Amino acid sequence: MELKNAVAVVTGANRGLGRHLAAQLLERGAKVYAAARRPETVDLPGAIPLQLDVTDAQSIQAAARTASDATLLVNNAGISTGTPLIAGSPDAVRGEMEVNFFGPLAVTRAFTPVIESNGGGAVLNVLSVLSWLHPAGLGSYAASKAAAWALTDAAREELAPRGITVTALHVGYMDTDMAAGVPADQKADPAEVAAQALSGIETGLPEVLADETTRYVKQQLAAAPSVA
Ligand SMILES: NC(=O)c1ccc[n+]([C@@H]2O[C@H](COP(=O)([O-])OP(=O)(O)OC[C@H]3O[C@@H](n4cnc5c(N)ncnc54)[C@H](OP(=O)(O)O)[C@@H]3O)[C@@H](O)[C@H]2O)c1
Repeated sequence: MELKNAVAVVTGANRGLGRHLAAQLLERGAKVYAAARRPETVDLPGAIPLQLDVTDAQSIQAAARTASDATLLVNNAGISTGTPLIAGSPDAVRGEMEVNFFGPLAVTRAFTPVIESNGGGAVLNVLSVLSWLHPAGLGSYAASKAAAWALTDAAREELAPRGITVTALHVGYMDTDMAAGVPADQKADPAEVAAQALSGIETGLPEVLADETTRYVKQQLAAAPSVA
């Protein structure tokens, strides 16, 4: 998909990776709706702030009505609570699933007819190396990203006949607020990750593996699970 003259909706565009994706989409010539729970926190010159909480059905419907010229949806918004699945709070587990799985599902369902009616386009889902690697301390987040990975693959097949390509972005730690406690030398530059993701959309890749850790973990998927 050509990004010049595309019309993009980026969720969670007020900070972190979403802000980089929105900024680089503008640089590549796209019109950008920078979606955020609090649109007043969007500070990107040239972007159109758009109110969108991915857990709020009314907010999603209103955003789809406003951004009725969209041709590209970037499901970027996410949370990571550090909740283990067994000992952790059930509400935290459900909350993480709401934002990281049911959120992108609901937003994709709302924007599919919009993108289709504009002649087709693309969806980018921001996933993680933890779609495949499931450490106990991040069990809830990993389960939500594994579910979002399945969503991405199923949506790719379901949306292809409707003229919409679906790209998965898998990445390890990035230098954003979400990974603030992680040492700097273990984090990828989110600007670099955003650039890879957008090039992946432009060439119609089904999957972008943005760092060495992610490429290694994917290669190891055929091995038996290990017990720490
Ligand atoms: N950072 C990493 O190490 C890492 C690694 C792999 C994958 N990822 C994924 O990358 C994506 C971006 O994360 P990030 O690193 O940029 O994290 P971040 O800096 O914490 O930003 C998260 C973004 O998601 C938004 N958000 C949270 N809940 C939302 C909701 N209910 N509705 C709409 N927006 C919501 C936040 O908005 P507010 O400002 O309103 O809270 C914020 O804009 C996420 O999907 C994350 O899971 C991150």
